[in-house]
Amino acid sequence: MVKAIIKYFLKQLGYELISRKAPAQLYYELDWEFHDLYELAQEKCQMTKTDNTLRRQRHYTLNYLLKNAPLANGEVCELGCWRGLSAYQIAYHLRTAGAKNVFHIFDSFAGLSPFEAADIGQGGQDSTETRRKQFACPLETVADNLKEFSFIKYYKGWIPTRFSEVANHLFSLVHIDVDMYQPIADSFRFFYPRLVKEGIMIFDDYGCTQFPGAKKAVDECLREFHQPFFVPLPSGQAFLIKGLRD
Ligand SMILES: C[S@@+](CC[C@H](N)C(=O)[O-])C[C@H]1O[C@@H](n2cnc3c(N)ncnc32)[C@H](O)[C@@H]1O
Repeated sequence: MVKAIIKYFLKQLGYELISRKAPAQLYYELDWEFHDLYELAQEKCQMTKTDNTLRRQRHYTLNYLLKNAPLANGEVCELGCWRGLSAYQIAYHLRTAGAKNVFHIFDSFAGLSPFEAADIGQGGQDSTETRRKQFACPLETVADNLKEFSFIKYYKGWIPTRFSEVANHLFSLVHIDVDMYQPIADSFRFFYPRLVKEGIMIFDDYGCTQFPGAKKAVDECLREFHQPFFVPLPSGQAFLIKGLRD
């Protein structure tokens, strides 16, 4: 009874009571190193109230791909950071791994770019418009959320206006999370040639029917770059690894 009351009040505050003693179905559920980092990132980015299972699983995949990326051979870049939830975890991992690289973040800091015909999915134009504004977060807030990481460089602007500033860099991991057709296609075309061998490119929105432009952009670019090793995941993410078929 007491537990039920505590559970109820925590739920009102946006928290969920999870017992670490409860029988786990999967080793993923017991991966406290991941869950602790994810929850820390949520706190730093004021996102504890919007936690959900699918998002947690997507970040789990991101964390493990990051651990396998050839970080010594290239830098890391994120396209689309919103409040910094994924960026926090990426930066934390880079610091732990002792990587000496700059972590590059590109974002409008004004939400999603205007949608085109390719971007209108289930729920129609209205739902896309609502989400567009929902993802606006000022650069100052993100920089404050991530202030403990001095090696982050921010590029404020609409993709691809500031890409030329990293034209001479090489990348080991590129996380593309900008939802819409044009910036995803622009990001893929710019960063794929700059990805090192065995470098990883992650597409957060590939399988999301709400953002059909993401799948269209990625599928077109995969064909252009001769179908590299590519895996779509049940979470809606997808990733490719460069050079495995050379
Ligand atoms: C879904 S959010 C990113 C979420 C973040 N990666 C995370 O896991 O917490 C999408 C982000 O993409 C940015 N964005 C969308 N379209 C953009 C564009 N054309 N140019 C620059 N940034 C864009 C938005 O401002 C927003 O921050």
